Amino acid sequence: MPRTLVAGNWKMNGLRAALIEIEQIAAGIPVSETAPEGLLCLPATLIHSARALTDGSGLKIGGETCHPKEKGAHTGDISAEMLRDAGAEYVIVGHSERRADHGETDSIVADQALAALRGGLTPIICVGETLAERDAGQVLEVIASQIAGSIPDGAGADEIVIAYEPVWAIGTGRVASVEQIGEVHGAIRALLVKKFGEKGKGVRILYGGSMNPANAGEILNVGDVNGGLIGGASLKAADFLAIYQQAAL
Ligand code: PGA
Repeated sequence: MPRTLVAGNWKMNGLRAALIEIEQIAAGIPVSETAPEGLLCLPATLIHSARALTDGSGLKIGGETCHPKEKGAHTGDISAEMLRDAGAEYVIVGHSERRADHGETDSIVADQALAALRGGLTPIICVGETLAERDAGQVLEVIASQIAGSIPDGAGADEIVIAYEPVWAIGTGRVASVEQIGEVHGAIRALLVKKFGEKGKGVRILYGGSMNPANAGEILNVGDVNGGLIGGASLKAADFLAIYQQAAL
């Protein structure tokens, strides 16, 4: 069984005043090789301070996206190397909000994931169908094509994390059912095993979409769910830690 990963995604939330919340979260994440991993993916402006403040705790810090290139004339963008330099160990790539807001395609996401690996970060590669695609019965087809297109050639099974986030469940309070989650996670696992062989069984597949302390236990018990990517409920230390504790059961 891969080690569970409980990851927060703060999106475009958090001023320096929120560092206190991050400190409280870090206090609840043990330094351990076997307990679930705790991670906060933060706005770039908070990464360095968050790392400095929580050093010595078990909490890991990540970024929310990175540019495919290492440096250069790309005003407003951030590279994997910069995130790593600030203290990040992970980076989310291909979140549906970035796919929608910034036109990031599977091939751009694959380039970002490759950039993450080159920069010393573990990419969390996001996939997920829209409501229209689900209603049209295209879920597994969409997921298969996103997985095929978004994992970069040459990436090792032990170097990546996948997050399944149905777009219609993100920030809506509408959670996918355990049957829906189980079906897609099982399908992703089969695709990973086809691609990587036995090693595909070790790739962590996170669920994301309106996870909260009340539903986390049930979701984390679904087969092939190896953790969560948590948006809204990761902003409050009490909620994030309540989810983390469910994962640790
Ligand atoms: P949510 O966001 O938990 O607020 O639905 C999850 C995500 O977008 O990663």
